[in-house]
Amino acid sequence: MPHMTPASPSPGAATRDFLTQEHGLFIGGKWATALAGKRFDVFDPATGERIATAAAGEAADIDAAVAAARAAFNGPWAKFTAAERGKVIWKLAELIERHAQELAELEVLDNGQPLAVAQYVVNHIVPEFFRYYAGWPTKIEGATIPTSPQGRRPGEVLSFTLREPLGVVGAITPWNAPLPMLMVKLAPVLATGCTLVLKPAELTPLTALRVAQLAAEAGVPDGVFNVVTGFGETAGAALAAHPGVDKIAFTGSTEVGRSIVRAAAGNLKKVSLELGGKSPVIVFPDAVLEQVIPGAARACFFLQGQNCMAGTRLYVHEKVHDRVVDGVARIARGMQLGHGLDPASQFGPLISAEQRERVRGFVEAGRREGGELVCGGTAPERPGWFFEPTVFARMHADMTPVKNEIFGPVLCVQSFGDDELERVAAEANATIYGLSGSVWTRDIGLAMQMVRRIDSGQVSVNMHAALDPAMPFGGNRQSGWGREFGKEGLEPYLKTKGVSVAW
Ligand code: NAI
Ligand code: MG
Repeated sequence: MPHMTPASPSPGAATRDFLTQEHGLFIGGKWATALAGKRFDVFDPATGERIATAAAGEAADIDAAVAAARAAFNGPWAKFTAAERGKVIWKLAELIERHAQELAELEVLDNGQPLAVAQYVVNHIVPEFFRYYAGWPTKIEGATIPTSPQGRRPGEVLSFTLREPLGVVGAITPWNAPLPMLMVKLAPVLATGCTLVLKPAELTPLTALRVAQLAAEAGVPDGVFNVVTGFGETAGAALAAHPGVDKIAFTGSTEVGRSIVRAAAGNLKKVSLELGGKSPVIVFPDAVLEQVIPGAARACFFLQGQNCMAGTRLYVHEKVHDRVVDGVARIARGMQLGHGLDPASQFGPLISAEQRERVRGFVEAGRREGGELVCGGTAPERPGWFFEPTVFARMHADMTPVKNEIFGPVLCVQSFGDDELERVAAEANATIYGLSGSVWTRDIGLAMQMVRRIDSGQVSVNMHAALDPAMPFGGNRQSGWGREFGKEGLEPYLKTKGVSVAW
């Protein structure tokens, strides 16, 4: 049984002050109440208590936000030079660092993650990502193309491409990592000169509202970044279907991803999708177990397993199977569960009671179908939506928890023998997903062979889920459409115009 710490240490003054404000929608640089006047409650998942309320925007509010985004796109934002856009992005990175403690506390209270995780995210991941994209506006270039249209000879026509901002972007983000999700949409929007209407997850609306204030302070013009808090079925669906939106960037469940695609068909808006995952972690017998064991535990249990990249299917060679399973289970049992603001906490709650029931259902299925429960599997007796880190051994490819994205702290272990490379490679790809994956071995030839065989947008060797602002990230198969991060991450926000000039 993992250790538990007492609930609910209190946040700093800036955070308390922000929580007591009556938050509106951020549209055209101004705070607005939702037109229908509705609000919803925001909960601390570690206590189950209400900590704030937010405005419940609906279709009419989305209309207003899209109009503001269009006006900014055609107006003041179009007059910014590339260098000026870069400066604004850089300034936003600085402001996020300056308010790091407050943002980290809000993220903890909203999402449940341990403070150390949130602090790392706010002090490093988010500012570095914005700074990476701050360098791009001045480097977005077209090409000159050697053409001879309509029989013209060389020198009679000059042809070149313009890379233009796509337009008004709608972003819909999930609750598992609210700030990084916002960052991944906002940075390329600002870098390319697009404008944004963001609909953050209803379970975690807070940090987006705070970043909207900071973006305004950084000099992002009114209407360039709009935030409409509200529910998926109302605000989210209206944004996805809106005829004035040129592109939707969605991160969330595969099921909702499909409904986004259908909604986008009306005006054939561009769509990029970052969806679920069920990523394999494959451990060969020569791997360095002192790295494998903590690495495999982190791969699955980071963000309480509520992580699209999570390494939830662990394939271990039979020679090292028992040592790896024992080691991972020891880490799982020793994890300090607690309120994220408690510095001793290493493992927070799940996002909601509903999510916990979903996870519990998968654990019950694993038991029923004959998995060996090595540790965890229950919810501790305490307030909040905690669930113990759970390890199942002796799993098979056709078991429910192996096939489905659980989005909770449940690791499914299978073993393989010397002659089973083909089987493991095939099983690694035997889900509808293809997002991440890792291979652990000192044999570089074997590693590269596996890298080739794993059909996912990301494969890491001797680490899992190696993210970097410069490295493209995204899903194959039903894990998504397109790539975020890096230079490739600009593409979904740009359109190409071929220009030919005769004289
Ligand atoms: P979800 O996909 O419903 O929520 C993600 C976002 O989509 C939220 O902002 C939500 O308001 C919005 N949304 C929901 N329905 C919509 C609609 N019809 N039109 C437009 N936007 C809509 O995810 P949910 O229900 O919170 O979680 C359920 C499961 O989804 C999880 O258990 C997990 O398996 C998966 N998931 C995967 C994520 C990932 O990054 N891979 C992130 C969140 C959830
Ligand atoms: Mg949903």
